[in-house]
Amino acid sequence: MRRIAVINGPNLNLLGTREPDKYGFETLESINARLARLAAELDLKCEFFQSNSEGELVSAVQRAAETAGVILNAGAYTHYSIAIRDAIAAIRAPVVEVHISNVHSREEFRRVSVIAPVCAGIIAGFGSESYILALRALAAPRP
Ligand code: DQA
Repeated sequence: MRRIAVINGPNLNLLGTREPDKYGFETLESINARLARLAAELDLKCEFFQSNSEGELVSAVQRAAETAGVILNAGAYTHYSIAIRDAIAAIRAPVVEVHISNVHSREEFRRVSVIAPVCAGIIAGFGSESYILALRALAAPRP
């Protein structure tokens, strides 16, 4: 069965209680459960990983090299981690950059994504639905 890696970075383990005005009330566990259900419908299997550490996220991206795709919310590392960018560039699997909030409507520093140029696409601003949209995007046939 085709595998999709779902990788979440720093502070996303706190979803549900973290700044709910920006990130909503849904927990990461609940989002992952919804992804797993949709994946089953799409004949895919999600594998979940979360870490607050940059190096662990680099390793998780490397491990995802042979998957059918990666859903990655790198959190704040999005804005400055060249190491995560290089890991994405090093693998063939398509990576979808995901954000719960619309990073472009927030502070100036969040408008910069160092990983965007090496990602297949970006989904931001749809709350926890951003993850669902990313899974549908990876499941859809690409030109
Ligand atoms: C985030 C946006 C980032 O700027 C922030 O550092 C996060 C969450 C989002 O999902 O909206 O941790 O990636």
